[in-house]
Amino acid sequence: MASDNMIRRVNEDLSAPGKADRQRFAREGYIDIHCHCLPAVDDGPTTKHEALALCQLLVDDGITTVIATPHQLGRFNGRNQAAGVRESVSMFNKELETHRIPLTVVPGGDVRLDERICRLLETDKILTLADGGRYILLELPSEVFIDIEPLLVELARLDVQVIISHPERNSVLIRQSGALLKWLSRSAHLQVTAGSLLGEFGSMAQRAAWRFLSLGWASFVATDCHNSSSRRPQMKAVFKSISKKLGQATARWVCIENPLRVLKGQDVLRRLAASTRMCTNETAPNNF
Ligand SMILES: [Fe+2]
Repeated sequence: MASDNMIRRVNEDLSAPGKADRQRFAREGYIDIHCHCLPAVDDGPTTKHEALALCQLLVDDGITTVIATPHQLGRFNGRNQAAGVRESVSMFNKELETHRIPLTVVPGGDVRLDERICRLLETDKILTLADGGRYILLELPSEVFIDIEPLLVELARLDVQVIISHPERNSVLIRQSGALLKWLSRSAHLQVTAGSLLGEFGSMAQRAAWRFLSLGWASFVATDCHNSSSRRPQMKAVFKSISKKLGQATARWVCIENPLRVLKGQDVLRRLAASTRMCTNETAPNNF
């Protein structure tokens, strides 16, 4: 498959990871930056058996590395703190090895918007993606619009950038293009969910997801998987669909290249459409 060659080329570019257990990144495959795959920590799998079944599906879908992103704050306030998630990930990786499931799990969080975020990062209570200190996955409330610009400014002082999870599924947010552009200009990034692009969350989410992707506003596609029955991984299908509609370079950019950059703590590449660049002064890379 042509995409396999692309995955190989991207992964050959890997430099030495910061931690020993990240060395397995070098295998070919997709990298999922948003997934609820740990057992019994949030609304993901309730048992170890179910979590292993989900991870086998991730592997079958071509994913080799997944950032476990249990919910933090919001309705999970006080649960899933950083140290506990790290320990859960470490134990779960041993289970994966025992069951010969070739998947590497690294720690992260799906962090609900909260005014304490900076303090909780500084005191090591909540997690950045891949525990790399560079990117935080942020879930915004769907019932009300809140301007996160002050948070983006505050996080920039900690050298942390925000990746907003599934904005396309937020009916309030998709009507706030001006705010989204302002946030993008403050180095926020958007992650759309594979299932949204494939129509699993309705036509409104699907239209918004494709709009964000085609404008270059979204820099990531992730599974946001919760279980092996109703919310299954769809990376192969979505890579194919993006390749068909927007070209394989775009599919590679959002499914492989940028997720890999998050794992390595590198700058995310953007491909904002010309009209958007004029609004935000963003510069698109020329190597895509
Ligand atoms: Fe999530």
